[in-house]
Amino acid sequence: MNIQWYPGHMTKAKRAMQEDLKLIDLIIEIVDARIPYSSRNPDIDELGKQKSRLILLNKSDLASETWNDIWAKWFQSQGFYVVKVNSKSGAGLKQINSVVQEACKEKIERDKKRGILNRPVRAMVVGIPNVGKSTFINSFAGKACTKTGNKPGVTKGNQWIRLHKSLELLDTPGILWPRFENQEVGKRLAFIGSINDEILNKEELAMELLRFMMKQYPEVLKERYGIEWEQSQELGDVVLNSALEQIAKSRSCLLKGNEYDYKKAANLFIDDYRSGRLGRITLEFPPEETGEALKR
Ligand code: G4P
Repeated sequence: MNIQWYPGHMTKAKRAMQEDLKLIDLIIEIVDARIPYSSRNPDIDELGKQKSRLILLNKSDLASETWNDIWAKWFQSQGFYVVKVNSKSGAGLKQINSVVQEACKEKIERDKKRGILNRPVRAMVVGIPNVGKSTFINSFAGKACTKTGNKPGVTKGNQWIRLHKSLELLDTPGILWPRFENQEVGKRLAFIGSINDEILNKEELAMELLRFMMKQYPEVLKERYGIEWEQSQELGDVVLNSALEQIAKSRSCLLKGNEYDYKKAANLFIDDYRSGRLGRITLEFPPEETGEALKR
């Protein structure tokens, strides 16, 4: 399956982001903890070279705790500040303020020396579609936030949110990048729902997710749907098809005439994954752990 997706409004959003970078001190990048690498737009690294960086491993409740910690250390080793959060429940959000102050301490010191007191840190919040950016802003800023109108110099569409006297957020639209060089990245983005489902073949997508889970999390498939197979079997179309059929069987996905409804089974399986009903499942790992290079 080949996934490419780049609507025109995303080009515009990138340009807007580039223009507004000069107004900010820090980039807060929200990623999905299940695919912390693939859910990062590579354009941000290019655009944000001179800025302090904070990565929020969001949806950490849906990813394995062990892998969350390994990924957090990995990003820290690359110079990022990292906080694990669950924007839905609010877990982890309390830590953010102090980490922001720490990440911007040089700027705060510089301001002090120049006699500028209490200038807030300005942070741009970025994240690809569906990583939970709106949920994060709503829980983090909450009712206390006042959305300020457009300030001069700020691109239309990007929104300033004043949190308190020491932090202002600039909300930006979620953007993907033009081309996935690595098709695995496209698939993973589709698994977590960051690519519009309308352009995807859900049965193929479900089989790709089955392929991954049969390798990495076989016990989950066995327990939830009763999927079993010979470990020596190659994970080709025949095996994947029969696994999907088993999902249809176990969840009574039937068409008229008692044929299996593969489409319904595929949707059900993908939904089970996305909502965490299959447990906390991380889909990718740092290169040092697998020996496989990361490429977007
Ligand atoms: P976006 O702005 O980045 O596009 O994402 P948005 O906040 O709309 O969140 C996308 C989905 O992810 C929402 O689910 C939201 O509830 C869920 N979500 C966000 N953060 C977290 C998190 O930390 N943990 C978990 N488990 N889920 C999170 P939805 O099904 O689209 O909507 P809803 O039914 O939850 O309202």
